[in-house]
Amino acid sequence: MDFKLTIAQLAAEAAGKAFPGADVGVDAVAGMLETPPDAAMGDYALPCFKLSKALRKSPMMISDALAGAISAPFLSRVESVKGYLNFFVDRATYAREVVGAALRAGARYGSSDEGAGKTIVIDYSSINIAKRFHIGHLSTTMIGNALYKMYTFLGYHCVGVNHLGDWGTQFGKMIAAYKRWGDRETVMKGGVDEMVKLYVRFNNEAKENPALDDEGRAWFKAIEDGNPEALEIFNWFKQVTLKDAERVYDMLGVRFDSYNGESFYADKVQPIIDELRQKGLLVEDQGAQIVRLDDYGMPPAIILRSDGATLYMTRDLAAAKYRHDTYHFDKNLYVVAYQQDLQFRQLFKVMELLGWDWAKGCEHVNFGMVSYEGQTLSTREGRIVYLEDLLNQSVSKALGIINEKSPNLENKEEVARKIGIGAVVFFALYNSRIKDIDFWWDRALNFDGETGPYVMYTHARCMSVLRKCGDVDAVPDYSALDDPEAQAVVRLIDDFPGVVHLAVERNEPSLVTRFSVELAKAYNKFYYEHRILDDDLSARAARVQLTRAASQTIKTALGLIGIEAPDRM
Ligand code: ARG
Repeated sequence: MDFKLTIAQLAAEAAGKAFPGADVGVDAVAGMLETPPDAAMGDYALPCFKLSKALRKSPMMISDALAGAISAPFLSRVESVKGYLNFFVDRATYAREVVGAALRAGARYGSSDEGAGKTIVIDYSSINIAKRFHIGHLSTTMIGNALYKMYTFLGYHCVGVNHLGDWGTQFGKMIAAYKRWGDRETVMKGGVDEMVKLYVRFNNEAKENPALDDEGRAWFKAIEDGNPEALEIFNWFKQVTLKDAERVYDMLGVRFDSYNGESFYADKVQPIIDELRQKGLLVEDQGAQIVRLDDYGMPPAIILRSDGATLYMTRDLAAAKYRHDTYHFDKNLYVVAYQQDLQFRQLFKVMELLGWDWAKGCEHVNFGMVSYEGQTLSTREGRIVYLEDLLNQSVSKALGIINEKSPNLENKEEVARKIGIGAVVFFALYNSRIKDIDFWWDRALNFDGETGPYVMYTHARCMSVLRKCGDVDAVPDYSALDDPEAQAVVRLIDDFPGVVHLAVERNEPSLVTRFSVELAKAYNKFYYEHRILDDDLSARAARVQLTRAASQTIKTALGLIGIEAPDRM
């Protein structure tokens, strides 16, 4: 039962009767209904001044007239207070309806088909070849993963793209370095670390010996020209990088539908350049080809360097066009740090100038920076925290905590894996994405406070309650849930579908993360203040149903942000 809509219907009907001739639509009234900040003012409130114009009466007159005319079994009270019409939903009915709906829908509770027939392309993680995954990549990977899950939950078709950074002169340098000093076995064993070492050595030696740079350029030219040896080494570098990354993706449970990255578009830029030229957008500037953006308060977008090489921007233009032609997306999201804000504003402006009207569907989903225990990270200064190390460390710390708190738990390793990884992911998705994050161990792994382990622990607590008293045959008596603590849990469960909807509308997974904390807190409050194993079996049945709906909703919420909740902790 949709309380809001039903109340709107009742109010619209009553208004029609009380003020003949006036016509107020149900949808309009539904849009006016508010949730009062204080439960003492009812569950829904209609500010009647919004009806004054249509009904030509003062708000007080309207609210007085309607209060007397509306009654329904699910409403315990309707009050007129200073021009507001306050509706009090009968607590037992509310609990029965909400818990019933949640349990009927099961794991699908909160989902919808609002996205049916629509496609969302999500560009996330998008790592660079021959670089190791560090904690700076956590946000893009997990925000993108969460968006993928949330959009899918609402019926959209998603295409997850890892737009690999696999093009540029540095790959020529890497081949040159490898040919001079590298060997296959060492790189196989050392993975990306070994490739980075080669690259660093190359750059150091090139300072003394500039001929090396020519060698690097020549190898990059060889890649561009499709020289088999160059391509073989280059592709092998890619495989090694992806194999390293795959271990991290496996830990995080992240998948992609496409790994088409920059090199994929390197040979698809010509039509774009032609189109830019034909539309008179391309101008020459010191040998380079650029699109002027002065009129929009931005520096020019460089399309071709003076040596004819394409840029990140050029390949992104080709990528956007390709995604449009291939997937016919409704939205094309780029989950990329805010450092690239300008880059994306330029990109979208150039697309608009090209007259690509579908560019409206492109959106930069930006996010803040990650630092580690108060320290900014810097590759150059060697202050770097690899994601894989962080996750492994988190898992072993979680295992330490389990060994201390519940040494007899079965599958300790497996549970520690879920808690350790979940704690990190939760931390990354807790604040609104635009905020910078400072990662602290004692905050991420705390079992109290607004953390992943706290929410996971609450879920496990619910599961333990259900194991103890899950099978109650009695018909639930929902009037046992009329206390404020149970009602707060019911209210949050009722809010869940709206939270998911909003999180998708704003591309903001943190709304779901925060919701999971609110629900966990509310459930714990209920748990401490009420006996679930009540002697009255009907009351017990109602509390068990509430517990079941709460645990299921927490699990779904965590699942949407990419966290697995263990049943026992
Ligand atoms: N590889 C890039 C980086 O690490 C991110 C790519 C984002 N996607 C895109 N289509 N530009 O900065």
